[in-house]
Amino acid sequence: MSLRTCARRATAIAETCQHTLRQAPQRRQRYASVATAAAQSNLPFEVRQSIARDASLPTPDPASDSQTSRLVGSHSPYMVPTYVRPPPMFHKGEGCYIWDLDNRRYLDFTAGIAVNALGHCDPQMSRILYEQSQTLVHASNLYHNPWTGALSELLVQKTKEAGGMKDISRAFICNSGSEANEAAIKFARKYGRSLEPSGTKHEIVSFQGSFHGRTMGSLSATPNPKYQKPFSPMIPGFKYATYNSVDSINELVTDKTCGVLIEPIQGEGGVNVATPEFLQALRDRCTEVGALLIYDEIQCGLGRTGQLWAHASLPASAHPDVLTTAKALGNGFPIGATLVTEDVSSKIVTGDHGTTFGGNPLGCRVAHYIVSRLADPTLQSSVLAKEQLFRKHFSRIASRFPNIVSEIRGKGLILGMQLNADPTPVITAARERGLLVITCGTNTLRFVPPLIVTEEQIEAGCGILEEAMAVVFETTERVEGTDGQQEMRAS
Ligand SMILES: Cc1ncc(COP(=O)(O)O)c(C=O)c1O
Repeated sequence: MSLRTCARRATAIAETCQHTLRQAPQRRQRYASVATAAAQSNLPFEVRQSIARDASLPTPDPASDSQTSRLVGSHSPYMVPTYVRPPPMFHKGEGCYIWDLDNRRYLDFTAGIAVNALGHCDPQMSRILYEQSQTLVHASNLYHNPWTGALSELLVQKTKEAGGMKDISRAFICNSGSEANEAAIKFARKYGRSLEPSGTKHEIVSFQGSFHGRTMGSLSATPNPKYQKPFSPMIPGFKYATYNSVDSINELVTDKTCGVLIEPIQGEGGVNVATPEFLQALRDRCTEVGALLIYDEIQCGLGRTGQLWAHASLPASAHPDVLTTAKALGNGFPIGATLVTEDVSSKIVTGDHGTTFGGNPLGCRVAHYIVSRLADPTLQSSVLAKEQLFRKHFSRIASRFPNIVSEIRGKGLILGMQLNADPTPVITAARERGLLVITCGTNTLRFVPPLIVTEEQIEAGCGILEEAMAVVFETTERVEGTDGQQEMRAS
């Protein structure tokens, strides 16, 4: 039996994990009495230390011989090891909370990596899923269904209402972000060929620090050696420019370019925001050379910046020809979309592109509901108010850790806190105190909570974050573990 398990058994009588974060002090008092009792016993020093540690934590990671770890261990031989995950296993979610197998509750500031914008298990979404699953799940794209078209129409209509993508006209519905970008890349190649039938206009330009997906096309547009190298060679014709550098685009976006793919806010790359001047210069350069401008709003779109689309704050003169979306589009149900102008659509003919599952009535009906909720201006203005609250707390944290926190970046509820230190122990310490956060870029803490997060939850979460940072940076307590993330990590 491990020390951790021994400790866990000694504290078992005090185990009740259904309390709110606000009740944590009460719970700690109760744990503390157990810890005091243990301290007076003749248990080995390490066991007593472990008891005291777990007693002080609302959501300690499961021990290596816990039931959770045994279950993980029994499953892992059957799973291709593509991810490193932290010890807890989550089985239930509601709103901004998620519960592990021991029914310990965590405040979720990750929202499934910017996916669950309406929180976990939105009741109306669950009802729609249930209803549609009893009506028609899939019939294939060989036949009409009521929901693929309805979702396409709604995306076009709501984008226009929100002041985004001025020439938006049609949608291609697929199953994920990578697929949405894959379609965008193919559309750009076809567009280039329509302008230059010899095929010389085939180059795609994307940006250093970007993340566009893991399929071969989207991976070829993601210039991270860690992701590309094992699968080289990449698809020919991809060039990588420097984000926010006009000189770089003037050099790399040429007559040979058929498309330029860019995230208006880089998510995985570190919550880096493109300046309006740069995006305008990029638009102008694309128009000059006859290349499609593709905005990848898979992470930053659908209300996360306080507008339906991040680019909607730009003048119409900087709007894209193609817009890709996924993640929040299904609030957890897998779905993506590539939105195009009539000019782009006119170059695509029957048989050019397709999908078996994309546009199925189940996913499209769910996404139709989600888009109608996320397009609500009241929700969007609340996102901006919540950003201010986050920023207020981040300023306090930054002034407490002036040598650790160097910058706060982002917009709305896609925010990054740049650290001068490895954030992994902070992620672990926060998790063991009931808060889930993730990293991105190089030493950046990323905050992409559900857009429905409340002021109280922001206060509570930032309080936990500050405590976690104090544990990591102000005390000698060791915090080990993994944040279970790999995106953009230097190899
Ligand atoms: C900006 C951006 N584009 C594309 C993708 C790929 O999406 P998916 O994982 O759904 O294929 C992601 C995923 O993180 C992303 O953040």
